[in-house]
Amino acid sequence: MSATGRAGGVFVTGTDTGIGKTFVTSALVRALVRRGIAAAGMKPVATGAMRVAGALVNDDALALQAAAGSAPPYADVNPYVFAPPVAPHLAATAADIRIDFEVIHAAWRRLSRHAEFIVVEGVGGWLVPLNETGTVADLARHLDLPVLLVVGLRLGCINHALLTARAIENAGSRLLGYVCSCVDPAYPGVNETVAALQARIVAPCLGVVPHCARADHEPVDAALAGLAARMHADAIA
Ligand SMILES: Nc1ncnc2c1ncn2[C@@H]1O[C@H](COP(=O)(O)OP(=O)(O)OP(=O)(O)O)[C@@H](O)[C@H]1O
Ligand SMILES: [Mg+2]
Repeated sequence: MSATGRAGGVFVTGTDTGIGKTFVTSALVRALVRRGIAAAGMKPVATGAMRVAGALVNDDALALQAAAGSAPPYADVNPYVFAPPVAPHLAATAADIRIDFEVIHAAWRRLSRHAEFIVVEGVGGWLVPLNETGTVADLARHLDLPVLLVVGLRLGCINHALLTARAIENAGSRLLGYVCSCVDPAYPGVNETVAALQARIVAPCLGVVPHCARADHEPVDAALAGLAARMHADAIA
């Protein structure tokens, strides 16, 4: 826990859906656990779920739950889960449910009884609506967490990264920095793209994750181990 007695944490957002948020979030949790730090992952809102033993479960949330090793309760890792793989506010409306940030905050508090650092994965990108007025940006603020931006390196990502970094600043959130993930193995100009972002975003590039084979976690874990340790050290300072 930090000096304030509250678990430390970070809110992971991304330039888009399907660009490596879960990949990076899981690696951060694994890196912390390997260092002996009680860490947990959280996916407050997930869409696209299957029913297992009568309960809906989402792949991202299962990956984050597994990364923690200690297997925190699913309902705390993922308090809102919807079956259809559609925008969250549409899935919630269809299920006649309102996504309530206080319910998410309560799940965070339960997780933080056992975890000293919680890595929270957003859903989609930064301005995705979650209820009639609130967005992912508002949820990050509600949880009072600094933000890590994952930039999925693919065509169009420079624009998406610059827009998202600006929106995070405008929301009054603290952007810790960004991690680039080589989600597209054929993407040309990784170094040039990172340089273009470094020239235009004040917050630092905190890592570049190479393209990894599906079952091989080593390169992503190696790329992010130092970052995880620094985030935890900052949180407890
Ligand atoms: N550096 C990488 N190397 C190889 N595969 C990657 C890399 N980054 C992401 N991927 C793959 O890209 C796909 C999308 O990644 P991921 O699920 O982490 O995205 P996401 O941003 O969490 O998506 P969502 O919006 O659905 O939550 C996954 O199959 C993941 O394994
Ligand atoms: Mg994900």
